[in-house]
Amino acid sequence: MLGSILAEKRNENNKFFLFVVDNYFKGKELAKRIPVKPEDELMFIDVDPYEPTTEQIDSIRDTILKKKGLPAGVIGIGGGSIMDIAKAVSLMFTNEGSSTLYQGLNLIKKRGIYHLGVPTISGTGAECSMTAVLTGPVKKLGLKCDWTVFDQVVLDPDLLATVPQDWWFYTGMDTYIHCIESETGRFKNAFSHAYAEESLKLCKDVFINEGCGKNAENDEKLMIASLMGGLSLTYSEVGVCHALSYGLSKILGTRHCYANCLAFNHLEDYYGDSVQEFKQMLKKHNIALPQNLSKDWTDKQITDMAEVAYNLPHMWNHAIGENWKEKITIDLIKGLYERL
Ligand SMILES: [Fe+2]
Repeated sequence: MLGSILAEKRNENNKFFLFVVDNYFKGKELAKRIPVKPEDELMFIDVDPYEPTTEQIDSIRDTILKKKGLPAGVIGIGGGSIMDIAKAVSLMFTNEGSSTLYQGLNLIKKRGIYHLGVPTISGTGAECSMTAVLTGPVKKLGLKCDWTVFDQVVLDPDLLATVPQDWWFYTGMDTYIHCIESETGRFKNAFSHAYAEESLKLCKDVFINEGCGKNAENDEKLMIASLMGGLSLTYSEVGVCHALSYGLSKILGTRHCYANCLAFNHLEDYYGDSVQEFKQMLKKHNIALPQNLSKDWTDKQITDMAEVAYNLPHMWNHAIGENWKEKITIDLIKGLYERL
């Protein structure tokens, strides 16, 4: 199917595609099914342990341009990080200079090249969000604009079959947390609510209701939940958990979905019943999150994380209110990290 979708686009620019694929699939069955032609470029990218960086995006762009010129399109096959890489590279092919120049809202000047996403793990919503999150030397912040969104997405729940149980849980919880945060804040609206409500129903079927667990039917539900959760947050906002999670990723390199789980587990005073439900889901699927992590962190690391989190005003504005600076301080955020 992917081959026929791409056939129509092949004649654009220098008539080749760039495939960016999670290194996990190298030598595996899925890799053999990728419709790569001799003129195409296939890059297997190791996304462990770090999330995509601005330097990495610039380097992929520069290498390909030097070798073959402008591709007809970029195809991303993998999890949230690969989705973000494909989206970011597509934009950077047409926008000059380093991607650090464009980290933020609507800073991109030109439409990127055609890009298509094939998610192989569900939860981050990266397949439908209008942001490509990148860690730069100064900030962890997305290239966010209307052109970031994929031109096309291929959703195939069969691809989720091989996801390991713990990552199935962590990435699924990213969707759950997107919905809870989207619903709990001042940017919530009828559109974001409709998607969050539906996505949460599906999440509960997958993770807590009777018949929950990892199976083909639930894989399909999770794939759609991820998409709807992503749409919900796109039109609302994330909150306290994502702010803390960004600090963990930027300073310690913790993977996004896992970082969310670590933080959400201790945010009962912000997300009450949902944190209780989250704990039930942990128990149901035998997931044990580490405790007392902060005892091994230096005060400098905790301060640095708190500063990253504090510098995400849109999230605090949504979760706490317009006057959030009267309530949220660096010291308070440090206290939240110390719970972990
Ligand atoms: Fe997320």
